[in-house]
Amino acid sequence: MIWDDRYSSSEFFYGTEPNDFLRDQHVFIPAGGRVLCLAEGEGRNAVWLAQQGFQVTAVDQSSVGLAKARVLAARNAVNIDIVTADLAAWPMGTARWDGVVSIWCHLPSAVRRKVHRHAVAGLRPGGVLVLEAYTPAQLTFKTGGPSDADLMPTLALLRDELAGLDFKIARECERSIHEGVGHRGRSAVVQVVARVPD
Ligand SMILES: C[S@@+](CC[C@H](N)C(=O)[O-])C[C@H]1O[C@@H](n2cnc3c(N)ncnc32)[C@H](O)[C@@H]1O
Repeated sequence: MIWDDRYSSSEFFYGTEPNDFLRDQHVFIPAGGRVLCLAEGEGRNAVWLAQQGFQVTAVDQSSVGLAKARVLAARNAVNIDIVTADLAAWPMGTARWDGVVSIWCHLPSAVRRKVHRHAVAGLRPGGVLVLEAYTPAQLTFKTGGPSDADLMPTLALLRDELAGLDFKIARECERSIHEGVGHRGRSAVVQVVARVPD
């Protein structure tokens, strides 16, 4: 599997620091709440959120990535729940999460639509989704991200897929990203912070 290969080095492919957008926007998630990190890879975001006092569950299909997440958590003396699963089939539950974090969770559009429906249902009233993803415009930058536009949402698609949430931040923008060897340089992204109304 491509992700297992990518994560098989002792280095962390996207580094060990959290994603910038998540670092800036995590304050919207109810403090100390249960947070689900989708497609969490090697665990940098999950571990950092646990350090901020959240109860974190990290889901990814790559057992190699998640083994490194376990190591990173131990190194930082925090606990995170780790689930190895394909998001296409993993039951997220109903009204279970105070936060859902989706950082570079690039799934085929049909799967993404389903996962987003489940994320909306899985959040509690007052719960918050924090998402950053590459848009199809990233294909011209070649600084990281998928090479298939079907895996890359636009803001218009996300507004539709995440209907029912109250959008606090919703923008497409360009920004400079430096995350390990995986993401390097000027990038076209979509950023969302959206909340389940009380
Ligand atoms: C670009 S990496 C992002 C990792 C992490 N979110 C981060 O920011 O460091 C994309 C991740 O999506 C995971 N992934 C892709 N398709 C998946 C699926 N169907 N179910 C679960 N995880 C998946 C991969 O294993 C990989 O770890």
